[in-house]
Amino acid sequence: MIHRIMDTITCSTYIFILCILQLHLFSVADNASYVPRENIVLNCGSNISEFVQNDGRNWSGDVASPYVPSNAETKSRMARAPHTLQSIPEVPYMTSRIFQSQFTYTFNVTPGPKFIRLHFYPASYLDLNISNAFLSVSAANCTLLRNFSASLNADYFNLAYFMKEFIVHVNGSVLQLTFAPSYNDSDAFAFVNGIEVVSMPLNLYTSGDVPLLLVGHGSKVVYIENDSAMENLYRLNVGGEQIPPKDDTGMFRRWDTDEIYILGTDLGIQLSNMSMPVLYTNHVSPYSAPADVYRTSRSMASFDGGLVNLNYNMTWFFPVDSGFLYIVRLHFCELDTYITKINQAVFSVFLNNQTADEQLDVIAWSGGPGIAVYRDYVVLVPHVIEGKQDLWLDLHPYKDSKPMYYTSYLNGVEIFKLSNFGDKNLAGLNPSQSVISGSEVKAPRVVQIKKLKFILVGCGLGTVVLSILLCLVVLYKLGVIRPTRVMSWCGLVVHSPDQVEKAKKSSLCTYFSLRDIKVATNDFDEALLTGIGGFGTVYKGTFDGGATYVAIKRANPMSEQGVSEFETEILLLSQLRHHNLVSLLGYCNEEGEMILVYDFMANGSLHDHLHLRQRDQSPLAWIQRLEICIGVARGLHYLHTGTKHRIIHRDIKTTNILLDHNWVPKISDFGLSKAGYLSSATTNVKGSIGYLDPECYQSHKLSEKSDIYSLGVVLLEVLTARAAVSVGEDDEHINLAEWTTLCFESGNVEQIVDPNLKENIIKECFELYLGVAMKCLAERGVARPSIGEVLENLVLAMHLQKNEGTVPDRNVHKNDNAVLQGNSDLTPGVEFSEIMMHTAR
Ligand SMILES: *[C@@H]1O[C@H](CO)[C@@H](O)[C@H](O)[C@H]1NC(C)=O
Ligand SMILES: *[C@@H]1O[C@H](CO)[C@@H](O)[C@H](O)[C@H]1NC(C)=O
Ligand SMILES: *[C@@H]1O[C@H](CO)[C@@H](O)[C@H](O)[C@H]1NC(C)=O
Ligand SMILES: *[C@@H]1O[C@H](CO)[C@@H](O)[C@H](O)[C@H]1NC(C)=O
Ligand SMILES: *[C@@H]1O[C@H](CO)[C@@H](O)[C@H](O)[C@H]1NC(C)=O
Ligand SMILES: *[C@@H]1O[C@H](CO)[C@@H](O)[C@H](O)[C@H]1NC(C)=O
Ligand SMILES: *[C@@H]1O[C@H](CO)[C@@H](O)[C@H](O)[C@H]1NC(C)=O
Ligand SMILES: *[C@@H]1O[C@H](CO)[C@@H](O)[C@H](O)[C@H]1NC(C)=O
Ligand SMILES: *[C@@H]1O[C@H](CO)[C@@H](O)[C@H](O)[C@H]1NC(C)=O
Ligand SMILES: *[C@@H]1O[C@H](CO)[C@@H](O)[C@H](O)[C@H]1NC(C)=O
Ligand SMILES: *[C@@H]1O[C@H](CO)[C@@H](O)[C@H](O)[C@H]1NC(C)=O
Ligand SMILES: *[C@@H]1O[C@H](CO)[C@@H](O)[C@H](O)[C@H]1NC(C)=O
Repeated sequence: MIHRIMDTITCSTYIFILCILQLHLFSVADNASYVPRENIVLNCGSNISEFVQNDGRNWSGDVASPYVPSNAETKSRMARAPHTLQSIPEVPYMTSRIFQSQFTYTFNVTPGPKFIRLHFYPASYLDLNISNAFLSVSAANCTLLRNFSASLNADYFNLAYFMKEFIVHVNGSVLQLTFAPSYNDSDAFAFVNGIEVVSMPLNLYTSGDVPLLLVGHGSKVVYIENDSAMENLYRLNVGGEQIPPKDDTGMFRRWDTDEIYILGTDLGIQLSNMSMPVLYTNHVSPYSAPADVYRTSRSMASFDGGLVNLNYNMTWFFPVDSGFLYIVRLHFCELDTYITKINQAVFSVFLNNQTADEQLDVIAWSGGPGIAVYRDYVVLVPHVIEGKQDLWLDLHPYKDSKPMYYTSYLNGVEIFKLSNFGDKNLAGLNPSQSVISGSEVKAPRVVQIKKLKFILVGCGLGTVVLSILLCLVVLYKLGVIRPTRVMSWCGLVVHSPDQVEKAKKSSLCTYFSLRDIKVATNDFDEALLTGIGGFGTVYKGTFDGGATYVAIKRANPMSEQGVSEFETEILLLSQLRHHNLVSLLGYCNEEGEMILVYDFMANGSLHDHLHLRQRDQSPLAWIQRLEICIGVARGLHYLHTGTKHRIIHRDIKTTNILLDHNWVPKISDFGLSKAGYLSSATTNVKGSIGYLDPECYQSHKLSEKSDIYSLGVVLLEVLTARAAVSVGEDDEHINLAEWTTLCFESGNVEQIVDPNLKENIIKECFELYLGVAMKCLAERGVARPSIGEVLENLVLAMHLQKNEGTVPDRNVHKNDNAVLQGNSDLTPGVEFSEIMMHTAR
């Protein structure tokens, strides 16, 4: 039996008793380190017997190791990864072992739970096509992976290489780890780059006799027993820096940062007290997490009264496979800063929109600041859809207990997938759009066994204690608040080089040395200067002895603004890939220089073509302009809807639309962009004069409709070849959007059209185009079309132009691949006719 799930009469009472029991303190040095009995690290496919990695471990090649079968050479092949531009660690990723049939590593170990970590770098090995690698891996009678494609997973998570961590229990003294290709085919194969087998303390992750609450199923609880396997999916040092394996409590776990899992733009604030000693209670293993995890936290932003915090939730989301039970372990520790007493901060924890803990008071639970506690919850992620779905974690202040501060905070999270009951399977589907049948993932069986009986003492006692505290707390005045670093609400602005480093590593963007950059730009030769802007200067550089042109953007090191925009740009652009966005090739951050390297755009900016055309350049033709607008709309559509979480560019303007040698437009300059769901975001107004959304300007509310407004201005600029803001004859500033609106309302639009174009535009096309542009400029965001509608109408305008005004058959149009490419939310039809009516008025 793997998970025993039970009903209890009063589970919360029970949990309360547990809390009281935990008040006994252990005095454990907070740097206590577990020494694993087994700590095997193998660099697969390598014959180098010694490689001491910076984690202090000897990553020896598996070739001469005792763990491979004696006939290993006949059963597998060894391969080196091809040389790459990316900085991939040599060990263990540059060598791999390739399996074309079943292959078993045998480890002699002590009984008990073990970490198994598998390292993968999907690359072209030998003559093999990595897309044919589908592997199955099993250990201790559990299926760890099945039909697992490392390359599909790497693509989905946008990682070049990655590690998967499992926990299995070894019964006996032998751990067999078996790899096999998932199907029988001549070109099928499996591979692995590195293997770790590390032991851990007995009850670190299995609860044994302690039942865990099954969230959202009333009072049902689950027992996690030691014959189930688990996979760690997320392990985060919330509000802190990444903690590398060598700084773990001896088990070589990696603790990542949490920013990228936060939903929305409100990152709250990161708190830390690095000088605080951390104490562990006798119910918390001193090895549970490094003290630094407990020394940093993320908290809701506003403390003063904190009423604002009642309006929203602090939310993290984690993509997980459907059809499994998950253990969510939350780590808390009150930093010894301003919350030191019971009922100063009480909050609720929700998992997948279900209450996991209604009122959590860390001080009441732990006994004081600096005392580490964690709690495990079990969540069933039902098999309602194939593939991945998000597991949500929400924190919200608990108002009813009238705490001193309406806030909530978290120090660490770990999320584990539990193997299925019965077939002990951990394998999910590969990430992919298509729905795959035939490899059904079975939901774990929920079994009811018996009711637990608990005494009600805790509840009564708790109420009394709480009411006394409530009275005391009212007398308290607001303490001094010392957040170490205010992360305002600003999207992805992160000041930890670590984070940038991580984003870089996890993406296709390369690090260039300052030396390379100097060679490429002839030591920043002014003759190669192609632009100067707020951010700094742009040079045309060459690599490979003139074979490759690049644009090299060098930040002005004086500008504080520059630093955050630089980081935002790296973080965002390294995650984004689209035909209509500039691609970031790499960056350099040395000797105080901040440099970004992009593809070179041979045809410069749209702005220059419209307003600063050289004599020898012919004006852009109407069809060409339409194509550019459609491309820009496609790029924006990708940002607003195509990526997993929305991105608002915030600075759409013709100078940020670059044209490559084929006149393909590319949106650039992501320094002001924001990622996330922005329903509740308020903001400082940023952007460029003439393009700025008046609604955003007045209300400070940012939404993707602000980009739509800016796009509307761009559409007008393209039509009129007039600047967004220009100076009129009597020195007054003319705002293109306002001016066009006036002309539009007085039926005088023809006069504003670029004289170079007038003759060429088909009337129906013109009306539709202008209608779209005017709709984009609607005063209120809600009245503006979505980017999908803009794109659709622009494509239609193009069609009208090309077909001399005939409206295409809607169905044919809908199936037009070019229009619907990657678009999920186009709502064709309605808005089209609406716009037509608007124009016809
Ligand atoms: C822990 O810290 C103490 C004092 O700071 C030091 O003496 C001890 O060697 C440390 N132990 C480990 C395992 O790092
Ligand atoms: C490892 O293999 C390479 C290539 O097969 C060989 O050149 C080298 O001598 C081997 N090294 C050791 C230590 O066996
Ligand atoms: C590393 O491991 C290999 C094989 O397991 C062994 O031969 C070698 O002595 C080890 N080196 C160190 C420095 O421990
Ligand atoms: C590898 O296989 C995939 C799918 O089977 C195919 O699309 C791709 O072109 C192949 N790549 C190479 C280099 O043969
Ligand atoms: C796997 O299961 C079989 C029977 O189901 C059992 O005989 C064997 O000992 C198990 N092996 C391990 C490693 O647990
Ligand atoms: C599981 O736990 C029980 C006691 O709780 C112990 O007797 C048994 O050996 C453990 N099994 C494994 C595989 O660790
Ligand atoms: C592949 O074929 C072998 C021998 O026919 C068989 O033992 C094995 O189970 C097959 N593997 C798969 C994944 O079908
Ligand atoms: C562990 O081994 C014992 C004895 O060999 C067996 O009774 C028990 O069922 C095994 N447990 C698991 C989880 O395989
Ligand atoms: C950090 O913790 C120490 C020890 O608990 C405490 O004395 C100190 O005041 C805390 N620092 C801040 C900034 O609150
Ligand atoms: C939780 O609720 C939000 C808002 O209603 C919804 O968008 C989200 O999908 C829900 N999450 C889950 C896991 O049900
Ligand atoms: C916070 O999340 C919970 C659970 O999803 C939800 O019921 C509640 O309405 C949310 N509160 C706010 C203010 O968004
Ligand atoms: C294996 O995964 C691939 C890619 O997700 C899928 O196309 C294929 O159908 C899967 N095969 C099986 C047997 O599940």
